[in-house]
Amino acid sequence: MVKEEQEKKLSLKREDFGKDFKWGVSTAAYQIEGSHQADGKGPSIWDIFTAKRGKIYQAHNGNIACDFYNKYEEDLYLMKDLNIHNFRFSISWSRVIPAGVGVPNPEGIDFYNKLIDKCLALDIEPWVTLYHWDLPAALEQKGGWTNREIISWFKDYVTLCVQCFGDRVKNWMVLNEPLVFVGAGYFLGVHAPGKRGMKNFLPAIHHAALCQAEGARIIKQYYPLAKVGTTFSCSFIEPSRPIQKDIMAAQRIDALVNRLFIEPALGMGYPVEDLKFLKKMEKYQLPGDKALLQFDFDFIGVQNYTREIIKHSWFVPYIKARNIKAEKRKVPITAMKWEIYPDSIYQMLKKFNSYKKVRDIYVTENGAAFKDIIEDGRINDKRRTNYLKGYLKAVLQAKKEGMNVKGYFVWSFTDNFEWAEGFRPRFGLVHVDYQTQKRTIKASGKWYSNFLRNQVK
Ligand code: GAL
Repeated sequence: MVKEEQEKKLSLKREDFGKDFKWGVSTAAYQIEGSHQADGKGPSIWDIFTAKRGKIYQAHNGNIACDFYNKYEEDLYLMKDLNIHNFRFSISWSRVIPAGVGVPNPEGIDFYNKLIDKCLALDIEPWVTLYHWDLPAALEQKGGWTNREIISWFKDYVTLCVQCFGDRVKNWMVLNEPLVFVGAGYFLGVHAPGKRGMKNFLPAIHHAALCQAEGARIIKQYYPLAKVGTTFSCSFIEPSRPIQKDIMAAQRIDALVNRLFIEPALGMGYPVEDLKFLKKMEKYQLPGDKALLQFDFDFIGVQNYTREIIKHSWFVPYIKARNIKAEKRKVPITAMKWEIYPDSIYQMLKKFNSYKKVRDIYVTENGAAFKDIIEDGRINDKRRTNYLKGYLKAVLQAKKEGMNVKGYFVWSFTDNFEWAEGFRPRFGLVHVDYQTQKRTIKASGKWYSNFLRNQVK
């Protein structure tokens, strides 16, 4: 395809999405805040996990990260300058309740009060995630997500947040990607708290799914008009070959990756038919749980980056399936080695939209990491801009076909701490020099800003 045609194919306008469509950026507390011990904050499982040897790329940690705790005002001014009027961030549980349960920390609460107030003063709408993976370490000592008591700890935490911030925060997300924090943290052991095996995974799934609904009920109880959602990681899953074995393998992965947490919330129960190992979860279920798992969310946050190609494999326990790495398939990839495949976001919107009980859908995360090169103080990250444009085209297609997608948030505003990958992958629209904390707007950030300029809010 000649260059001009290619450009034309990618050209899109904000107004195509309608004037009520929300545009924003997403972040998470541990990935940006730093100040991990400041003003009475207690340790979280990520503070503990990052201090262990061999867990994180080059032993990086979020102790300082982007220093957002001190630089939040500067970052919010920059956000406003870039015409971004919706900001998704998370609250650090151990900042507001250092031991996870019990005595709250007024200084931690004060930080979020100031952050929320500054957002509102700058005409930036706060979108708050209650749990983005940084469980207070004291609770992990009591079993963390594997302990059913987490339901009451979590309810107390949500109650405090809603009491403190609910007068100003109108949009809430209860959990960020439950499958990722229970899968990577309690089955594979590659994320905090580093636990492994079914005996941890199964109870953690069930308790997270219960907290997802219980947390939501608390918000509504205090603020019936608040918009309450929760977010899911999802990937478009396709079989490697059109043969029964691969098709079935893809179906199992799809159940695990895309259906495990939404279906119990919708009253459909867990996808046990496709994931037989979930039968063992019965052990952790009590009478009445099926009803407690349900909540009529105002919106679902869909978070998509890529697709997976799946092959049957006898060697992988429980799931009998494996993915064929994008690198091996010789397709375009990002610095996370994830395939660039814009149609995946369209397919995911279609999938979530097809559940009758799903109301509004927001893309609460989408974006890409690339190796950024600074030349003469500039970062010409054309690949990131093209990635965003490509995925946005797919979102627009979904919208034009009548799907209920109401907004889009780029992951992420600034480069930040990318969990086990440390600071190596850079996802930001804004570059961060971690030595000096200098922010430099990337070409993709300028593009997003220009794209948003036509209409305010
Ligand atoms: C999501 C997660 C974010 C961010 C992003 C990019 O799974 O919610 O915290 O790390 O992926 O990998």
